[in-house]
Amino acid sequence: MNLILLGPPGAGKGTQAEALAARHGLIQLSTGAMLRATVKAGTEIGLKADAVMKGGGLVSDDIVVRIIKERIAEPDCENGFILDGFPRTLPQAAALEKMLKAAKHRLDAVIELKVDDKVLVARISGRFSCSKCSAGYHDTFKPTKVRGVCDTCGSKEFTRRADDNAETVQARLMAYYKETSPLIGYYFAKGRLESVDGMGSIEKVGADIELAIEMLAG
Ligand code: AP5
Ligand code: MG
Repeated sequence: MNLILLGPPGAGKGTQAEALAARHGLIQLSTGAMLRATVKAGTEIGLKADAVMKGGGLVSDDIVVRIIKERIAEPDCENGFILDGFPRTLPQAAALEKMLKAAKHRLDAVIELKVDDKVLVARISGRFSCSKCSAGYHDTFKPTKVRGVCDTCGSKEFTRRADDNAETVQARLMAYYKETSPLIGYYFAKGRLESVDGMGSIEKVGADIELAIEMLAG
């Protein structure tokens, strides 16, 4: 099964992709995480991406398309993947369609997560993740079970993202409405889209996503 999670910054794409990956044995493909890895590695692409991400804009289509194309071709993606944060523009969606066709992969479902802007800012402000295994948490909405210890790997080191500040969040929201929201109509027209209310608890949203997948792919 191959899925896309669409939604504004802080909507819960990463949280739900992580849970879906565990439930269905799929690979989570987060272009945001992949780009942050290139920044950390200090590669040429990383240097370019860093400045754009800090400003809340979108990294160029050719860079992200190349990254995803290489990743999807790896053998572990054969059993299915969840795209978290890709595609984000119409040219990226067109490139994905070509890639999937060439690899004889099917796109089963596109799930849009709908969340009010005010809530997005609250979610982003409290977010942190494990430095070792990248498991995602929130100060209020998803704390670790034992304070200061990662539920998944037991690490005691956590990080917060450089782009999770009020100013950059506004720019990221603008980029979403301008560049990414047209994809909602694009996938609706293809009969692949279901919208899910992302305002409920993490568990409720997860259950609604499962229903939406059943409707589209079942
Ligand atoms: P990316 O990393 O994809 O960031 P984003 O789209 O801004 O989305 P976020 O990761 O901020 O939010 P999320 O929806 O994953 O929410 P999460 O589950 O963490 O991209 C970063 C940057 O990279 C972009 O700005 C761009 O520059 C670049 N980039 C990436 N992909 C690109 C592409 N394809 N093209 C061009 N540029 C690209 O949840 C947020 C918090 O809320 C967490 O703490 C979580 O615990 C909590 N939470 C989640 N769900 C709930 C719930 N239901 N109730 C309460 N709390 C919840
Ligand atoms: Mg994310």
